[in-house]
Amino acid sequence: MKARVLSGVQPSGNLHIGNYLGALKNWAEIQGQYESIFCIVDLHAITIYQQPAELAAKIRETAALFIASGIDPEQSSIIVQSSVSGHAELSWLLTCVTPLGWLYRMTQFKTKSEKQETIGAGLLQYPVLMTADILLYQAALVPVGDDQSQHLELARDIAQRFNSLYGETFVMPATSLPSVGARIMGLDDPTQKMSKSAPGTGHAIGLLDDPKVIAKKIGRATTDSSPAVDLENISPGIANLLAIGEACDPTFRKETAASMRYGDFKKRVTEAVISRLEPIQKKYREVIADPGYLEGVLADGRQRVLPIAEETVRKTKAAMGLYV
Ligand code: TRP
Repeated sequence: MKARVLSGVQPSGNLHIGNYLGALKNWAEIQGQYESIFCIVDLHAITIYQQPAELAAKIRETAALFIASGIDPEQSSIIVQSSVSGHAELSWLLTCVTPLGWLYRMTQFKTKSEKQETIGAGLLQYPVLMTADILLYQAALVPVGDDQSQHLELARDIAQRFNSLYGETFVMPATSLPSVGARIMGLDDPTQKMSKSAPGTGHAIGLLDDPKVIAKKIGRATTDSSPAVDLENISPGIANLLAIGEACDPTFRKETAASMRYGDFKKRVTEAVISRLEPIQKKYREVIADPGYLEGVLADGRQRVLPIAEETVRKTKAAMGLYV
């Protein structure tokens, strides 16, 4: 039997090239080796206020981008988190075994709550819901970026605590996959991971950005004061552009970039990005133009995973002595 893989993306903000090169591309590459579930985590998105009509559209956009990025709905289950009630249900059961102190020390909670005027209780609960996503399907592997490793450790701690209180119920998820994708940083600030929510238009290259916009953003990307690429002395901005270029185009080599003037180098990176995104954007437009197809994919995904989710919720409730 193939090992089960689960990962998720929030349908908030705009998916960007960092999401593609760091996650989606990798998922598409590994999907044949595992039983894969890729989840659009809309319940996570609402831990911060989302305009309802916008959220509804983003859920479909995210699903279409999964498919456009090479995730094959025949091989992988693409699901919307809120369409499977087990996520929310298991999340409550796990909440009851999670010490508050474990949640308060999550660095993502600290950073996110600093930016909010009113901190919703859901923001604190966020990692418990993520734990529920993973344990609901007894996923063995969870490919995520290293910004999520603290949450994954917490998932293991919660699983362990549950198992020791109520008996072996959950598979312990491994922290990650052996190989993870590239870590892409912000164009305007190469010390920060590229983010969906970072303000400003020069930060991220959206997967649906127009070629002209891409050229402009890369043209303005932060570099350093040297005139040309110096491989002996690479600044974070240049390293990031090199990583983007190499990840987009396998024939793009560091060596070719050596001593290129920044203007030419950026043009080369721009070409690599545009030609990588072109087929993705084309496929996206086809998929989004066919809502019936998209709904079918999400309904299929849900049908496929539902028995697994129901079984886990039943088993968990029974272990706790709840009415089943
Ligand atoms: N918290 C993850 C992120 O922001 C998204 C996520 C939610 C997730 N549930 C998950 C990732 C389950 C992996 C597995 O990137």
